Amino acid sequence: MLILSIETSCDDTGVSILKVDKRKREVKILANFISSQIKIHRPYGGVVPSLAKREHQNNLVPLLKKSLKRVKILKEKERGINLDSQASLRKILDRDPDLFSALIEFFSSYRKPPINYLAVTIGPGLEPCLWVGINFAKALSYFWHCPIIPINHLEGHLFSSFLNSRGEAPFVLKKNIFPLLGLIISGGHTELIAVRQFGEYKILGQTRDDAAGEAFDKVARLLGLPYPGGKEIAQIAKNVSQLDNQISLPRPMINSPDLDFSFSGLKTAVYYLVKDNPEIIQQKRNLIAAEFQQAVVDVLVEKTVKALKEKEWDYKMVVLGGGVSANLLLRKVFKERISRVIFPQLKYCSDNGAMIALAAWYHIQKRLDS
Ligand code: KG4
Ligand code: ZN
Repeated sequence: MLILSIETSCDDTGVSILKVDKRKREVKILANFISSQIKIHRPYGGVVPSLAKREHQNNLVPLLKKSLKRVKILKEKERGINLDSQASLRKILDRDPDLFSALIEFFSSYRKPPINYLAVTIGPGLEPCLWVGINFAKALSYFWHCPIIPINHLEGHLFSSFLNSRGEAPFVLKKNIFPLLGLIISGGHTELIAVRQFGEYKILGQTRDDAAGEAFDKVARLLGLPYPGGKEIAQIAKNVSQLDNQISLPRPMINSPDLDFSFSGLKTAVYYLVKDNPEIIQQKRNLIAAEFQQAVVDVLVEKTVKALKEKEWDYKMVVLGGGVSANLLLRKVFKERISRVIFPQLKYCSDNGAMIALAAWYHIQKRLDS
């Protein structure tokens, strides 16, 4: 079985192909292409939805072709497409004219590949971007007669750590991985989720204001670092061998009785530190970055340990997901404090199609089992 997935929820365009061979107990990503738009959004200090939409429209067909080619299922045909099909495609893509032209060219040149299912992210994310991916999936579904599996982006992040470096998911066919505790930390979300089994979730805590990644991005901006700021902060924080009390930032809500988070106070603390004393950026930028990073990590790990102690269910492991889970200090501290914690491969931390295909496989399996 082959699942082709599409991810366009924010500023990364992702297309992947997952192969499942249940008899051989094999679940493997065969192609995973991502087109990052960082350079386009960087001058604006954040993602500009209209630009992101345009880029998704431009990127999808090239990534589709690359993916099919990688799996050796991109086969040319005699050129042509009937008028009825053209009219239907125009209807599906009436708001995406560039995508329409690229797809007309694609469908008239290539045969239907042996794809069994299409998976597409339907949210949460930026609405105009999500629609490009959804309409693209609809067009493929119309021409290839494949069903579409709609996927929640967070479900993708939640199970992304099950993919190993070769793109295989040896865990996935096993039933004994649940219940598990998930921590999603991305640019848009910070959520602690109890997962009893696939599809059965309880949100234990979430951010009341900024997401962890958003805080990294905003503080980076205050420190004069480019967007996206997470990696930049981590990079300059590496120059600091030891924190001292010259710079001290709060750990918001670290001892609150619930499992919620709050990061906007931390950002505000950096704002006042810099505003009251602008030279500090020149003198102590690395130190501020290191203290900020440590503060975020301290809060995240403390709340995760608290959730484990509270044992909503009898967790077998803790899984992390989302862009911030790429942070190396965070990985070190989580490993020190929690024995059974797993992280996504670095290539699967930020948005990608592979995690969407894997979540789709869970949904398909559930349907087949019931
Ligand atoms: O999951 P993701 O790619 O997109 C969303 O779904 O939001 O996460 C992006 C976020 C950005 O805020 C970025 O600054 C942050 O992940 N990030 C990091 C690191 N790499 C990316 N934050 C901290 N440390 C990193 N190494
Ligand atoms: Zn994401």
